[in-house]
Amino acid sequence: MNSGSLMERGTRSPPILASPAPPHLEVILLTMVIQETLRLYPPAAFVVREALNDIKLDGINIPKGTNIRIPIAMAHRDPSLWGPSADKFDPDRFANGIAGACKPPHMYMPFGVGVRTCAGQNLAMVELKVVLSLLLSKFEFTLSPNYVHCPAFRLTIEPGKGVPLIFREL
Ligand code: HEM
Repeated sequence: MNSGSLMERGTRSPPILASPAPPHLEVILLTMVIQETLRLYPPAAFVVREALNDIKLDGINIPKGTNIRIPIAMAHRDPSLWGPSADKFDPDRFANGIAGACKPPHMYMPFGVGVRTCAGQNLAMVELKVVLSLLLSKFEFTLSPNYVHCPAFRLTIEPGKGVPLIFREL
């Protein structure tokens, strides 16, 4: 059994792995990176639900007809759900799936939650993996020193000043 995290094993050169990571492991790593990116920067900042009846949630009376905003971005950074490293970019937390990363797992909700969950989530995940795999098979890229980290809430959460990258053809 190799030591080190799944990310380290997949991305380090020998002797950690005798050869480059096998394709299925690369897809798993890519999925973990996408999951972690959607955790820290969920494009949809919140989902809204309307109370169809008077209800009591955790001691709070919510009258029928109230719109409740569920703040996805805040739930995704709550240390009581994700542990003390909640703010850290760490794809390895998804090495054992969503249930292994978050307790309870339904608090991970980049595509919403329940019966109205995103109808396009499987398509979105496949698109991301295809586009990133094609790019990574031809280029190596790093963040430009001109990058300014300022996530902005517009209609979605997005990079406030874009993401300038430096590409190198492989
Ligand atoms: C990374 C990409 C995407 C993200 C983060 C995302 C996120 C979301 C979220 C948070 C919701 C609200 C779910 C809820 O209320 O619980 C939603 C709903 C929806 N999404 Fe997406 N989405 C993405 C891509 C797509 C794509 C590619 C499609 C279609 C091709 C799509 C179609 C829909 C539809 C139709 C709904 C409404 C579902 C309903 O109300 O029953 N989404 N999405």
